[in-house]
Amino acid sequence: MTDQVMTDSDRREVRRVTEADYDDVMSIRSSVYDGYDYLPFQFKSLINHPDNEGYATILNGQFVAFCIISKVDGGETMVTRAGRVNKQFEGHGIFKALTSFIKQRQCNGTVCYHAFIADDTNQVILDAISRGELAVLMRKNTDFYKIEHNLRALTEKMDTPKYSRIMCPADMENVFQSNEACVHLFPETRIMCNLIPYRLKKSNIPLMFSDLTLIVGTNDSGWQLITCGTYYKCEKGHVYDLYVYGNSCFMSEHLIIHLKNILKYCHNRLEFLLHCNENQAQEFGTEMKKCQSIKVHGPWKSDYLVENKLK
Ligand SMILES: CC(C)(COP(=O)(O)OP(=O)(O)OC[C@H]1O[C@@H](n2cnc3c(N)ncnc32)[C@H](O)[C@@H]1OP(=O)(O)O)[C@@H](O)C(=O)NCCC(=O)NCCS
Repeated sequence: MTDQVMTDSDRREVRRVTEADYDDVMSIRSSVYDGYDYLPFQFKSLINHPDNEGYATILNGQFVAFCIISKVDGGETMVTRAGRVNKQFEGHGIFKALTSFIKQRQCNGTVCYHAFIADDTNQVILDAISRGELAVLMRKNTDFYKIEHNLRALTEKMDTPKYSRIMCPADMENVFQSNEACVHLFPETRIMCNLIPYRLKKSNIPLMFSDLTLIVGTNDSGWQLITCGTYYKCEKGHVYDLYVYGNSCFMSEHLIIHLKNILKYCHNRLEFLLHCNENQAQEFGTEMKKCQSIKVHGPWKSDYLVENKLK
């Protein structure tokens, strides 16, 4: 291949990444996702997980691209995430070659689907969606909320939850077994936890309950609201990614449980990234404001979950 940044004599290889490659992976690109990059904080945990594999493209000894895959749905789906290409090499097909390599390798095994998330600033993906080349399984609004207050003082002022609690894997099994609950909570037949889409399968439950994510549920004559929260520290500061499924009326109970969880990591100045269906953004926003958070302008407004059949 010959172009401005690469020549035929370049040595290019793709290889598995380990925990020891942290610095090289982070050197690929800064300010990924406009400063909301979870990879530095989660790298060790993600790369060492038995169902994940990280791959990098190395050009003349320099790491130029990276991507991690999580295998879910009993190994049927590979989810690519945290992808990045060195800015100098962007737009030259390096990322495409890396993901093609991974897909080919995974297709020899159990993997049949490739899923990923793209936000509404990703024009390449938006164009592919509008041409009908990619199928959108789920679209979530992403709203950004800031809390400037002392979190402990805030949790002390809030009422103790009555109907909501931290869920355990058996609770999620109970949800997945109930057709009524699944239709109500997950009409797209997926649940997202820590940026991974899961089919509503029992085999995914141990993956969803990781050390990175707290899942809260309300069961009041049936499952009413489930929220999945993941903390990370990034260039922007302390961030909590929160996916919400169900009725907003129990949201304040969920927020107090999540805020108590966040106290393990930080005590003030937190940003929530709230992912919900577009038609519920206003009602969830009202609940967010009740706990003294302020809606702020974020770099993107929605996330698309896209899936392709590989074989
Ligand atoms: C997104 C990014 C990796 C693309 O790099 P690039 O050099 O333009 O990519 P290439 O030219 O090799 O190939 C583009 C391919 O990547 C795919 N792609 C773009 N965004 C993607 C995403 N979020 N997930 C998976 N694939 C994606 C495109 O579909 C395209 O494939 P196609 O030609 O089959 O449609 C790069 O712009 C980047 O590092 N951005 C900052 C980080 C980021 O936003 N990452 C999102 C990926 S998780």
